Amino acid sequence: VPVAVEANPGEIEGFAAIVFDVLRATSTITTALAAGYQKVYPVVEAEEAIEFARRIEAALAGERGGEKIPEFPHGNSPLEFWPGNNRDNDSLVLTTSNGTKAIRIASTHAAKTFIGSLLNAGAVARAALQTGWDICLVCAGTEGKFSLEDLLGAGFVLLELIGIADSLPQMDDLSVAACNLASYYINAPLKGLDEGRHGKKLIGLGRDMDLEWCAQLNRFEIAPAVNNGYVCL
Ligand code: MLT
Repeated sequence: VPVAVEANPGEIEGFAAIVFDVLRATSTITTALAAGYQKVYPVVEAEEAIEFARRIEAALAGERGGEKIPEFPHGNSPLEFWPGNNRDNDSLVLTTSNGTKAIRIASTHAAKTFIGSLLNAGAVARAALQTGWDICLVCAGTEGKFSLEDLLGAGFVLLELIGIADSLPQMDDLSVAACNLASYYINAPLKGLDEGRHGKKLIGLGRDMDLEWCAQLNRFEIAPAVNNGYVCL
């Protein structure tokens, strides 16, 4: 199976895409669905999110610059959605600085779009492989810049793919780099999250526990995917 990390949106038509915003949007979506939410709607603009959540009577969550949007009831910490026994709704509308945008763009172009994170690396690798399509790993990054933790997430999924595919995936150079990065941090994923620019920023905001949560490799056996504008299992 051919896999690529380096691809423009227009080049992923017909691909199974896996989107990574490990800190924290895709980890938060994965956690919310594992906790019992049925649908998570990724929305780009805060105003649009407020209106939409009101219209469909969904819970509302959002972050800008790593901090909860002041008038929103929830921020973008995965821990706000775990455990699921204090869930106030079945549907969640989420807007974040980079992750929700990457999911929207990928799902406009790819044949199928999965949500990837360390939390569900194995499950999402299996689900993407089962589509039989070429696989593209989409790293959201932070404000247009490369993010260490997203390439690390892609690398962990690639290591899982290598473990289950019948033959060795044909990888582009960035996929090879992602695999080597994941091999480097395999015994200390949290260190990989701590060492990136956005990880350091979140630690500065007192979100250390979020990093610890997002660093749990294969905590969940779920492969969330985009379907009609929302993410579900
Ligand atoms: C994003 O979408 O930019 C991130 O999830 C930011 C964050 O909440 O850490």
